[in-house]
Amino acid sequence: MANKYSRMIREEIDTLSPYIPGKPIEEVQEEYGLERVIKLASNENPLGLSEKVKKAVINELSTLNRYPDGDCRFLKRAMAGKLNISEDMLLFGNGSDGLLKVIAETFINKGDEVIVFDPSFVEYTFVANLMGADLKRVKMNPYHQDLDKVLELVSDKTKMIFLTSPHNPAGTIITDRKLRVFLDRIPDNILVIMDEAYYEYVQSDEYPDSLEYIKKGYPLIVLRTFSKVYALAGLRIGYLIADSEIVSLAAKALDPFNVNRIAQAAALAAIEDEEFLENSIRVNEAGKEYLYRELEKRNISYVPTEANFILVNMEMDCMKLFEDLLRMGVIIRPGKPLGYPGHIRLSIGTEEENKLFINSIDKLLGE
Ligand SMILES: Cc1ncc(COP(=O)(O)O)c(C=O)c1O
Repeated sequence: MANKYSRMIREEIDTLSPYIPGKPIEEVQEEYGLERVIKLASNENPLGLSEKVKKAVINELSTLNRYPDGDCRFLKRAMAGKLNISEDMLLFGNGSDGLLKVIAETFINKGDEVIVFDPSFVEYTFVANLMGADLKRVKMNPYHQDLDKVLELVSDKTKMIFLTSPHNPAGTIITDRKLRVFLDRIPDNILVIMDEAYYEYVQSDEYPDSLEYIKKGYPLIVLRTFSKVYALAGLRIGYLIADSEIVSLAAKALDPFNVNRIAQAAALAAIEDEEFLENSIRVNEAGKEYLYRELEKRNISYVPTEANFILVNMEMDCMKLFEDLLRMGVIIRPGKPLGYPGHIRLSIGTEEENKLFINSIDKLLGE
């Protein structure tokens, strides 16, 4: 709605709508007077923090009077060693959301064409619109990203292409073969952003080692995060991997001290805690199998996932289902605002949470 300052706003900002996140647990508790609420809505790790990360966070508290290391030196060293890449191929930021903005600010000029899948993670259109890009959308097919369709849209004005693997909300991946064929046909004045927020969860043998393509010189920027399997969503830390020349340009657009001390310390402890990582993946796999089985028993179809969430085709008004589940203390994500009406996006929870979801569905569908 217009107010007395509306005339002062940049036209690009005027077109934006604020991000609508999954409903917080506290809000649902208050609104419906519930004690127990489970959240299967934002693809977080349901296991909570690793004990080693907790210790690192507590140890860091006494240093908070000091600014953080703007270069994330220790973390960068550890991650470069883990990924077997050089340190200058890494840039850490305030979540992958923050880095998506940095990439857009660094490379997109007003009027540049940017290609995104529709639907896909909303932040891509947000940052592209913020920079005044000319957005070109490729329809999902219906749960897969058809890269041939992207190639048909490429023009001499194209600056950037956003891909997601595993895709949010579909949970599907881009296979190595498809990525290779695609990258071979992309001119090197176009940047391909590959968002791999869920990459640790992937089980498929066909999933590419995207870092190999970066090492071979393809114009690829890979984004990963500590928000998902590493369970640090609340701390806001992600990283990008790219050719060192791309990294040095993007670093120019980064705010100073944009990754706080606690996030750096927690992330460093998190990558050293392989047991926690393995257990998180095990719990996710077990939850996935359980939910597949229970959904099949009820003849409910779903998209097989490579991530920690499942797109379930409920074939019904998912906004009503969302409200009904909220009343029972179960937060999921309705598919309609995510571009899949009739569906829900269900984050895989702990064994108990998954059972609670299935029991709630039984109660509602039995009514
Ligand atoms: C595909 C995808 N990319 C990025 C993000 C954001 O990650 P971060 O918490 O690192 O900003 C999410 C979060 O849900 C996501 O689904």
